[in-house]
Amino acid sequence: MRLVKDAWELGELGEAVDATVLGFEDGIREWEQVLRYGERWLEGTFFRRARAMGNDIGYDSIVAGGPHATTLHWIDNTGPVRPGDLILCDMGVENRNLYTADVTRTMPVSGSFTPLQRDLYTLVYDAQEASIAALAPGRPFLAGHDAAMEVLAHGLADLDLLPVPVEEALDPSSKVYARWTLHGVSHMLGMDVHDCGQAAPESYRDGILAENMVLTVEPGLYFQADDLLVPEELRGIGIRIEDDVVVTADGVRNLSAALPRDVAGVEEWMGRLRG
Ligand code: GLY
Ligand code: MN
Repeated sequence: MRLVKDAWELGELGEAVDATVLGFEDGIREWEQVLRYGERWLEGTFFRRARAMGNDIGYDSIVAGGPHATTLHWIDNTGPVRPGDLILCDMGVENRNLYTADVTRTMPVSGSFTPLQRDLYTLVYDAQEASIAALAPGRPFLAGHDAAMEVLAHGLADLDLLPVPVEEALDPSSKVYARWTLHGVSHMLGMDVHDCGQAAPESYRDGILAENMVLTVEPGLYFQADDLLVPEELRGIGIRIEDDVVVTADGVRNLSAALPRDVAGVEEWMGRLRG
């Protein structure tokens, strides 16, 4: 019953996402303090917004500067925030009726991406775009995941990282690219951040999307700091972009669209809010 949301539930999720957008914006506005105090300042700033506008946070905030972003659930949030690095923030407000958002943005600490960061970020962005375009009622839940992996695997092949041809890597018996993509691209969202986790596979993971399901779209690329299979300049870079979408009659609507996602949008947004 919880897989498909009714109109009231969609309103609750929209409210949680809107408060989450404000929490991200608060963090950028306090960038001087972020640079001074590190990841902790962003975690605390987001929590203040969650308490003021909602009820709580839906899960432990992940605020991951530099190589911490390659740890999927970096929740210590004790590290520095250094110009030149990227910072990955995965945070969601849980509203007073316990519906939660789940949003990730990866930002250049200095306000602009380096050429390498821009290329990798664009690859993840393209994967997310392909994933979003693959979602609609009647499509398999996994269509979005598969679309993102197709883009990421080709990107990793272009970087000369795959030990086999890309078509072989994409075969379910290989998935050799998964060393750098690490996780599934979508999960249901609602009262739990991983909503309906106990649902039968035939109605969820192996099931078909229906109008008013709400799910995340969150591809990522992660190069561990000690990964000797990638060139040194890639090591310690982690990027994820995560939005919350509701399935509509003919596609999806992005509930978290108010937070910029593309390179130019993220840079403009940071420049504007940091003042
Ligand atoms: N936001 C954390 C997760 O989806 O696992
Ligand atoms: Mn998520």
